[in-house]
Amino acid sequence: MLDKINALGAEASNEIKSAGDSKALDDLRIRYLGRKGLVTELLGQIATLPPEEKPRLGKELNALKANIDGALKERQAELARSPVMLKDFADLTLPGFRPPAGSRHPLTKTIDDICSIFLGMGFKIVEGPEIETEFYNFEALNIALDHPSRDAFDTFYIKNQYMLRSHTSPVQVRFMETEKPPFKIIVPGKVYRPDAVDASHSFMFHQIEGLVAGDDVTFADLKGALSVFIKNYFGEDAKVRFRPHYFPFTEPSAEVDVSCFICGGKGCSVCGKKGWLEILGCGMVHPNVFKAVKYNPEKVTGFAFGMGVERIAMLKYGINDMRLFFENDMRFLEQFR
Ligand code: PHE
Repeated sequence: MLDKINALGAEASNEIKSAGDSKALDDLRIRYLGRKGLVTELLGQIATLPPEEKPRLGKELNALKANIDGALKERQAELARSPVMLKDFADLTLPGFRPPAGSRHPLTKTIDDICSIFLGMGFKIVEGPEIETEFYNFEALNIALDHPSRDAFDTFYIKNQYMLRSHTSPVQVRFMETEKPPFKIIVPGKVYRPDAVDASHSFMFHQIEGLVAGDDVTFADLKGALSVFIKNYFGEDAKVRFRPHYFPFTEPSAEVDVSCFICGGKGCSVCGKKGWLEILGCGMVHPNVFKAVKYNPEKVTGFAFGMGVERIAMLKYGINDMRLFFENDMRFLEQFR
């Protein structure tokens, strides 16, 4: 009997070690420990043994049972750790799952594309705070407290003169307070206005500001830089038009139109039959702005411009509703990979 027990132990241990999957282990458990298993059978024979051998062999058999059980569990754990188990539950010939790839938001893409054109012209990117004071948002930019243009810009006040900036122009002032000309900067960022949300308005949108200052910066430089930008971004065929305009912080000021690239200037629904699309505001930096940052306006000249990112993206990609940018609908966003 003892020999049988030992032989069975050796055999079981070999078979368990070479079992390849959990199905094979289940079969082995049944073969040895099942109700009609080999160990169970031996246990049944104990009753027929002479009484003095019963305790010793009973102990041996129980030990064998425990060993086999332990070996089965150990092998099971070993298999669970090994990739071979995959084939137990997965069909490895099926195609895999492709994790959905993210993409840049169309506004981020637009900002990146615009900035990279200006980087190519030697501009550097600067950022500023979205929470501003009246001084930076208005006063230093020559927008007096009672100036009517303050209405259109008027914004969300927080408290103690703090407010959400209504344009990126305050960063002009912050930058010039600490830096000396000559320089060329662009400033991308979020701005806030108390506008009701509709297809072309939002209480939050993005602007890209530009500021160039130096010894001898002229309106010709302004025209040149913006024309290069527009042809780069909208295509070589794009025509550029400067229309006189008014901004408190630039003098003279202009609005810039690009020939409608949908109809080629003939007039369509996108350009409102005008053939031109207004895309940015610009002008020569007003002497009062230079004075506010302690520059000498007799010596320093410069130009500034500001454009709305949403509007440019809408024109470029033929998007007819600004709200689409903020709804996070994958079907919309996916188109801008
Ligand atoms: N800050 C102006 C706006 O928000 C745009 C602008 C910037 C105009 C710089 C001229 C110069 O409308």
